[in-house]
Amino acid sequence: MCDERLRVALATPACEVLLGAALKPGVPLAAALEKGLGRGKSLAGGGAAAVRAAFAPASRAATVSVPWPGGALEIAGTRIAGGWLLRLAHLREGAGEPLLFHGMWTCDPAMRQLFALVEKAAADDVTILVRGETGSGKELVAEAIHACSPRKRGPFRAINCAALPGNLLESELFGHARGAFTGAHRDTPGHLQLAHKGTLFLDEVAELPLDLQAKLLRVLETRTVLPVGAREPVPVDVRFVSATHRALRKEVEAGRFRADLMYRLRVIPLFLPPLRDRRGDIPLLVAKLMETMNRERRRRIDAVSPAALDALVAHDWPGNVRELKNALSYAYVMGEGPLLVRGDLPPELRERDVLGTPSPDREAILEALRRAGGQRHGAAELLGMSRVTLWRRMRELGLVPPRKKRSG
Ligand SMILES: Nc1ncnc2c1ncn2[C@@H]1O[C@H](COP(=O)(O)OP(=O)(O)OP(=O)(O)O)[C@@H](O)[C@H]1O
Ligand SMILES: [Mg+2]
Repeated sequence: MCDERLRVALATPACEVLLGAALKPGVPLAAALEKGLGRGKSLAGGGAAAVRAAFAPASRAATVSVPWPGGALEIAGTRIAGGWLLRLAHLREGAGEPLLFHGMWTCDPAMRQLFALVEKAAADDVTILVRGETGSGKELVAEAIHACSPRKRGPFRAINCAALPGNLLESELFGHARGAFTGAHRDTPGHLQLAHKGTLFLDEVAELPLDLQAKLLRVLETRTVLPVGAREPVPVDVRFVSATHRALRKEVEAGRFRADLMYRLRVIPLFLPPLRDRRGDIPLLVAKLMETMNRERRRRIDAVSPAALDALVAHDWPGNVRELKNALSYAYVMGEGPLLVRGDLPPELRERDVLGTPSPDREAILEALRRAGGQRHGAAELLGMSRVTLWRRMRELGLVPPRKKRSG
């Protein structure tokens, strides 16, 4: 709801979620929309609507009823007597349309479902376990959960349970009291305390040693934490999001993970599909990553050759989006000019030629020849193929005159 001068008077929580920011009374609507919509969201033509309204001056607690197409709207808690009512709605994007969700680009239906689940699960304080391969975006999902949750103004802390040896991890997670060990000169809060009123992201949670699993279980049960060497437990109010690339159930079966902790941490399990199961996302991610890299790097790439894109889409990406980012970084450095050709890609992607998979197209060959100063052996190297294969391919494409028949 806005006043006569289109300044925000009142915003519903749903509206704040849509625009990704708290809307303070008095801020100009145009500025709020510009800021909120900069995050890749769109408003529906049909779903967004505005009416000019005049309502009786109401007390803060009272509810006013405003006529609205399809049924009156009940509005509580405003003092303004008239102004504008705006209803904002997400654009209904059809399958296949690019969507940006908290830093994650996708056009894949399974990912859209996952994002819808993230939004839904984020609203309640339930624990969430994100499972996905390395580099598939688990940390981004954890951040999205926090950003969509009522705790979004609280801290988001992340700790990688695989990165530290047991005793250090214990102190990082639970904190320690002064004098708990040599060098502990003062009381130091751990991540659990630092995440108070916010979200704690336990990355690679399957790697948590068994003794710390027992200690963490206690935190979940009692909502208090006992720092190393301390006597008094400290109350903590934390929402837990965990991630692992392993099947936690198998870890439980193997005796490496406590079943009771698994059930506590995995009230809502989310599965992040690997990139090879959403190949439709690859061209989109390439385009978006290139937009960023063009801004940051010395080289500017305007297009990707069809052969290079084929190789990118066909690759299995065991390191998922992170590996794709690295492959593009490699291409930016190794190649030159405005066209990314297959020869710019890391060897594991280039070598598909050798295995007889898609051959370079005309454009890619001409670009490679230009770069190699017209030298065929240099161009073959750039394309990751032998000189003979390049020669044969050039003939197929009519880039060299057909062999003349010997006369006589
Ligand atoms: N859908 C996406 N759109 C854009 N960038 C993405 C997407 N998914 C992941 N990324 C990027 O890929 C990289 C890896 O993501 P992230 O760190 O969230 O993965 P992870 O699953 O936590 O990896 P690990 O298991 O290695 O910790 C990051 O740079 C992230 O920004
Ligand atoms: Mg991670």
